[in-house]
Amino acid sequence: MTSKIWGGRFQDATDAVLEAINVSIDFDKRLWPQDIEASLAHVAMLEACGIVSQADAEKIADGLVRIRQEIESGAFVFSRKLEDIHMNVEARLAELIGPAAGRLHTARSRNDQVAVDFRLYIRDCIDRIDAQLHDLQQALAEKALAEAASVMPGFTHLQSAQPVTFGHHLLAYVEMISRDRGRFQDARRRLNESPLGAAALAGTSFPIDREMTARALGFDRPTANSLDSVSARDFALETLAAAAICATHLSRFAEEIVLWTTSQFAFVSLSDKFTTGSSIMPQKRNPDAAELVRGKSGRIIGALQALLIVMKGLPLAYSKDMQEDKEGAFDSLDSLALCIAAACGMTRDMTVNAQRMRAAAGAGYATATDLADWLVRALGLPFREAHHVTGRIVGIAEARGLGLEELELSDLQGVEPRITEDVFGVLGVERSVESRTSYGGAAPSNVRAQAQSWLKRLEAE
Ligand code: ARG
Repeated sequence: MTSKIWGGRFQDATDAVLEAINVSIDFDKRLWPQDIEASLAHVAMLEACGIVSQADAEKIADGLVRIRQEIESGAFVFSRKLEDIHMNVEARLAELIGPAAGRLHTARSRNDQVAVDFRLYIRDCIDRIDAQLHDLQQALAEKALAEAASVMPGFTHLQSAQPVTFGHHLLAYVEMISRDRGRFQDARRRLNESPLGAAALAGTSFPIDREMTARALGFDRPTANSLDSVSARDFALETLAAAAICATHLSRFAEEIVLWTTSQFAFVSLSDKFTTGSSIMPQKRNPDAAELVRGKSGRIIGALQALLIVMKGLPLAYSKDMQEDKEGAFDSLDSLALCIAAACGMTRDMTVNAQRMRAAAGAGYATATDLADWLVRALGLPFREAHHVTGRIVGIAEARGLGLEELELSDLQGVEPRITEDVFGVLGVERSVESRTSYGGAAPSNVRAQAQSWLKRLEAE
């Protein structure tokens, strides 16, 4: 018999390579709070169901609490020989309380143990990320309210399209993040069933109470099928998918910050708190945090792909492949937390260069659509014809290097004789933006109302 916990039928020691590939303690040690919490719930249930004596259950619970203190204080020694967090805790329990420790694993397997630990861990992550996203929404909505009337160019194809306001632009991200939060909450709802008591794969012959452990651990109910309980990782996949989509949104925001802070755009600037310098070019102010938010989306998206690929070929029930679920998930959710914090920090830190934005909003004939709309409204032209007329006027302005509002009335009448002086009222960027009062549109009055309603909603949460 070898010294392994599972070593009853083994004679020889494991090869060093097997140990190296098998060991997970280096990364799964972070599951210790969940592992101990689940063990405490399990042993309380074993006692309540008369499966373990009160005396043993007390010893086990005391031992677990002591182990928790040891880990918290840094006194606990994790051993790679013991493979994973579950066996590290159990081995220490045996050292502390002797043979009674062996009763903790009654009606349980590492397969349901790891499943419950991982669900609890991911659930905690979801709750933390939700709070962070709430914070980011608040930062964005506050800035949006302050910049509700700051005119900026709206882009399509990264070409000036129509004027919008900076507040309107920021509120677009508040909406995206709201959906991200919804996706995390959906994942949480489906995740919140307890696999504990599924044991290795088939359930157990002991008279356990799975409702009791589920309740103790804050789950809505126990999972209904023992095979599914130990095989399922879609709770992690869903969470990683939500993380990947969220990271994509943050990456787009980060990309915009990178663009906006260039000297070519100069729409916003970041303070020294969020800027780094160059070791050779003294003038440089680099938006490294934004670039890394953009860059880290790669590994966050990658973690989802990796776990999908790990899972797709696995027959039911547990296979050791599934131990590969953790590192990517940890890395993804750690990275996302960092990205949200950075996005939030930059949002609060950025100062807006309203003049630059306004000037850029007027460039590129951004009010051409307003001119076309005026032709429809004032002269009754069909929109397609108005589009043509406007296109010819833009051509004239471009040839002379003038903005639309700088043309003479006679120039305009040369293209369409019925145009009157009134048209100049719609050619300015402020007027353009103020006219976008349709629901969800860019008008400052809309933006103000939306920002206020978001802030109210966020405060109430
Ligand atoms: N460390 C393992 C994991 O992460 C725990 C479950 C091991 N189960 C087993 N039958 N070997 O998946």
